[in-house]
Amino acid sequence: MKCAIITGGSRGIGRAICLKLAEEKSYHILINYTSNEEAAKETLAKVVELGATGEILKFDVGNAEETLKVLGEWQENNADALVEVIVNNAGITRDGLFMWMKSEDWNSVINTSLNGFFNVTNFFIQKLLRNKYGRIINMVSVSGVKGTAGQTNYSAAKGAVVGATKALAQEVAKRNITVNAVAPGFIRTDMTQEFNEDELKAMIPANRFGEAEEVADLVAFLASRKASYITGEVININGGIYS
Ligand SMILES: NC(=O)c1ccc[n+]([C@@H]2O[C@H](COP(=O)([O-])OP(=O)(O)OC[C@H]3O[C@@H](n4cnc5c(N)ncnc54)[C@H](OP(=O)(O)O)[C@@H]3O)[C@@H](O)[C@H]2O)c1
Repeated sequence: MKCAIITGGSRGIGRAICLKLAEEKSYHILINYTSNEEAAKETLAKVVELGATGEILKFDVGNAEETLKVLGEWQENNADALVEVIVNNAGITRDGLFMWMKSEDWNSVINTSLNGFFNVTNFFIQKLLRNKYGRIINMVSVSGVKGTAGQTNYSAAKGAVVGATKALAQEVAKRNITVNAVAPGFIRTDMTQEFNEDELKAMIPANRFGEAEEVADLVAFLASRKASYITGEVININGGIYS
């Protein structure tokens, strides 16, 4: 059984990726989430509606112990399952000016994005290397590329994942494993629902927020065999924001 795991697959961009990969029917879809069970169940129902199979794996990607426990038990119970596609999508924001930033807001954002990338990817990497094929896609952000005021923690977390993407890509390229980052700008999801699109769209050349499905199309391409010679890249998807 070939599988794709999407962290933070319950809502927003992660859900759109689950559904896009489900449409293609190449993979059993592993939907990770941490708190919103209803949303995860809804994503699984939609995956099944599309004719694919999937299951839900609940764990906090930033919690190494919990991640290892859940993934370890899952792998034990599914000895023939092979995770070929890893989408490190789980992420949070805790915005605020740096001068007022609390250490918990710094740490939780870095922990989810950066340690989340480590905890999940490190669990699977030896299996991918043995398989001599794999796709790792890391969801970063325009903030991790150009920096965004009010998001020093988030910019640092995403920027760090950009560095990790470039380094790991070089380590594993010979085994046909690609590692790329996708850097969205403003995408219409729960994360941006408080934002005033009418005001913010003025700084987006495309003059609108993007849709989660548009990001999912890019991720599906990077996850496919067609993207074999693209690795170590950061692909911006932001309606033309210069970054
Ligand atoms: N929306 C944007 O404009 C935008 C722009 C650039 C980059 N991004 C990045 O794209 C990714 C997805 O964003 P989104 O807009 O789809 O966000 P979202 O709507 O807030 O959804 C976040 C998803 O991540 C999951 N999650 C959060 N913390 C987690 C953890 N510790 N362990 C496991 N799952 C966790 C959530 O699960 P629960 O349902 O259980 O809470 C949810 O499925 C993030 O990495 C974000 O930084 C978003």
